[in-house]
Amino acid sequence: MAKIAVLTGSLRKGAFSKKIAANVAELFPDGFEAEFVSIGNLLLYNQDLDDNNDPPQVYTSFRNKIKACDAVLFVTPEYNRSVPGVLKNALDVGSRPKADSVWNGKPAAIISQSPSNLSGFGANHHLRQSLVSLNMPVVQQPEAYIANVATLLDENGQINNEKTVQFLQSFVDAFVDLINKKRDIPSFNSV
Ligand code: FNR
Repeated sequence: MAKIAVLTGSLRKGAFSKKIAANVAELFPDGFEAEFVSIGNLLLYNQDLDDNNDPPQVYTSFRNKIKACDAVLFVTPEYNRSVPGVLKNALDVGSRPKADSVWNGKPAAIISQSPSNLSGFGANHHLRQSLVSLNMPVVQQPEAYIANVATLLDENGQINNEKTVQFLQSFVDAFVDLINKKRDIPSFNSV
């Protein structure tokens, strides 16, 4: 069983990001399980809180949840042409202590979305920039930019556009391939 941590870059109740993530979670094959990990309760990262080896419980609990997962799926809106602060904060919290970063070596995949035509390109690529530094292999193709997201969801939050579902299935398939490749390389587990 492979566990996929799902992180969304929006805290609001009706977030399109959460709806897209819920649809995508259904597209993984048997043997893959999605776990939605909340990031809204994390204190803003403050290195002082780590320096005495007694970090806040919310940091520890978040770090343990990510550590227990095999891969990470990010679904995010774009805020001011970049990654929403709440998601960047989660990356920062998980990245410390540096020698024990919870992200190190974990395969990742990014979906950005926007109610406009923009599709969150800026957020998608700023997030990629951080994931390079965090040593996370990221699905390169296909790239997932979901534009006009509101028009793709029905009143129950289900994607109502067959082409979008097919596209997201191909995206999940590429992610599963990446995860399986990394699982087949024994040294992967020791990074
Ligand atoms: C936005 N929004 C936005 N949209 C976009 O395409 N590019 C952008 O740079 C921004 N910037 C931005 C900043 C802030 C602070 C907010 C609150 C919103 C609009 C955003 O895409 C829209 O609110 C989405 O619905 C947010 O995603 P969720 O919450 O539905 O997942």
